[in-house]
Amino acid sequence: MVLSLVFGSSGGIGGALVAAIGPGAVGFSRAGTPPFDITDEASVAAAAARVRGLGEPPGLIIVATGMLHGQGVMPEKTYAAITPETLARYFAINAIGPALIMKHFLPLLPKAEEARFAVLSARVGSITDNAIGGWYGYRAAKAALNQLLRSAAIELQRTRPLSVCVALHPGTVASNLSAPFAKAGLQVRPPACAAADLLGVLNGLGPADTGMFYAYDGTKIPW
Ligand SMILES: NC(=O)c1ccc[n+]([C@@H]2O[C@H](COP(=O)([O-])OP(=O)(O)OC[C@H]3O[C@@H](n4cnc5c(N)ncnc54)[C@H](OP(=O)(O)O)[C@@H]3O)[C@@H](O)[C@H]2O)c1
Repeated sequence: MVLSLVFGSSGGIGGALVAAIGPGAVGFSRAGTPPFDITDEASVAAAAARVRGLGEPPGLIIVATGMLHGQGVMPEKTYAAITPETLARYFAINAIGPALIMKHFLPLLPKAEEARFAVLSARVGSITDNAIGGWYGYRAAKAALNQLLRSAAIELQRTRPLSVCVALHPGTVASNLSAPFAKAGLQVRPPACAAADLLGVLNGLGPADTGMFYAYDGTKIPW
């Protein structure tokens, strides 16, 4: 049984990932005991200390936290809607939080065995793929996340050559995050399908595939 950590286990995709992994999965969320807040480095460090105390290195870590809307924030349709507060919130949750998980959890990965680390990014974070604009803060924060992930993958390979460290796009999935857009007619897939696809993609990747951005169907997404 591989110790598998899922951050954002209260979310649509995070919850489905915990269920799909089954025994060995440990979830972290703000609703957990103790609560885990990705924007609070002390909370991230405390969670890492607890995992270290288990005495077994995690073989799989998935960061399934993220924010597109909430608490008065909706994705900007125009640059006229940009505010420093909204941009900072998008970056805090979608980029800086996962970077703190990299800082505190990548050192827990085993050195001489295969191990996988994935962050859930989003295709809209691809600069190459951006043909319609909008969603300034979310897109920019996911692009920043992709760059952070890429650097971490390069660094990780030096000490853990068997590691796989990737960004994943889950597809458009039914969850709180997509709910306002699903209501507006966006097609969404069940979280259980997304979780099965993501785990299938991750299991099929080897160290030679590290540092890249993959969609749920296994295709590579350009940065
Ligand atoms: N759904 C889609 O269509 C879609 C498409 C592309 C990419 N993604 C990405 O997939 C990931 C998962 O999304 P989802 O659809 O499952 O969304 P979701 O259901 O809204 O889940 C988001 C998760 O992030 C957690 N979170 C937010 N702020 C946090 C904080 N400060 N500290 C700790 N946890 C925090 C939430 O916890 P709380 O329950 O405590 O709020 C929840 O567990 C995200 O990175 C998202 O950007 C989703």
